[in-house]
Amino acid sequence: MSFFTKHKIVETNATLLLALSLGVVTIGGIVEIVPLFYLENTIEDVEGIRPYTPLELTGRDIYIREGCYLCHSQMIRPLRDEVERYGPYSLAAESQYDHPFQWGSKRTGPDLARVGGRYSDEWHVNHLTDPRSVVPVSIMPTYGFMSDKVIDGKYVADLVQTHKYVGVPYTDEMVAKAQADFAAQADPDADTDGLFERYGDNVNVRNFDGQPELTEMDALVAYLQVLGTMVDFSTFEPDASR
Ligand code: HEC
Repeated sequence: MSFFTKHKIVETNATLLLALSLGVVTIGGIVEIVPLFYLENTIEDVEGIRPYTPLELTGRDIYIREGCYLCHSQMIRPLRDEVERYGPYSLAAESQYDHPFQWGSKRTGPDLARVGGRYSDEWHVNHLTDPRSVVPVSIMPTYGFMSDKVIDGKYVADLVQTHKYVGVPYTDEMVAKAQADFAAQADPDADTDGLFERYGDNVNVRNFDGQPELTEMDALVAYLQVLGTMVDFSTFEPDASR
């Protein structure tokens, strides 16, 4: 009996074909899944990664509300053209505390994973208010209304608590002080010792939108300015054992 005749037996017998297919898929699945049980952690711990501050977390909510992710990705792939354009490729740890993650699936505009620190706050405010004023060919919508939307962080403790609930390591103190930290980050004259103590020294504290009121614009710009800046890539070395 030739190979093809034997194969014919399988192909003309639906039950046998199903049973054999199931066997193949099971073996393939086991080979893929079992090694994961022996890894302690699939996400490499990376120095510098911290949970978002209450103000950044609020900005992130606005980013999601406005659907910025429909036009922007936050995921630099390990390909040469991407790394040359956007900077070091994204690490799993960098979206470790993102619920839900903002990798996106389409780039109508550029990737934003490392946009933090690339432009001044003023550039962001101008760009969000009228993208054409800084990039004449831009097709990005305008978001100037955010400068008029005053926010007071009334519910920000609940927001932080929610992220704590899904696994972000916020402490009870961070939840309790969320509203105070929220206000302090946008006010350079405020008492910011507690904020730095809780979130580290690299938190940006300034009046992001340049006007006296704390607005949605402050929160969004605070969020954009922290993106991709938590890891110091001048000293980062990937863990070669993985
Ligand atoms: C309809 C698609 C679209 C939407 C929605 C959109 N953008 Fe954009 N964005 C673009 C395009 C196109 C560019 C490139 C031209 C420019 O700089 O304006 C851009 C550029 C940017 C840049 C500059 C990036 C760089 O590296 O130069 C930032 C920052 C940005 N967008 C933030 C946002 C934020 C925040 C939102 C949501 C509030 C948003 N975008 C919504 C299309 C969009």
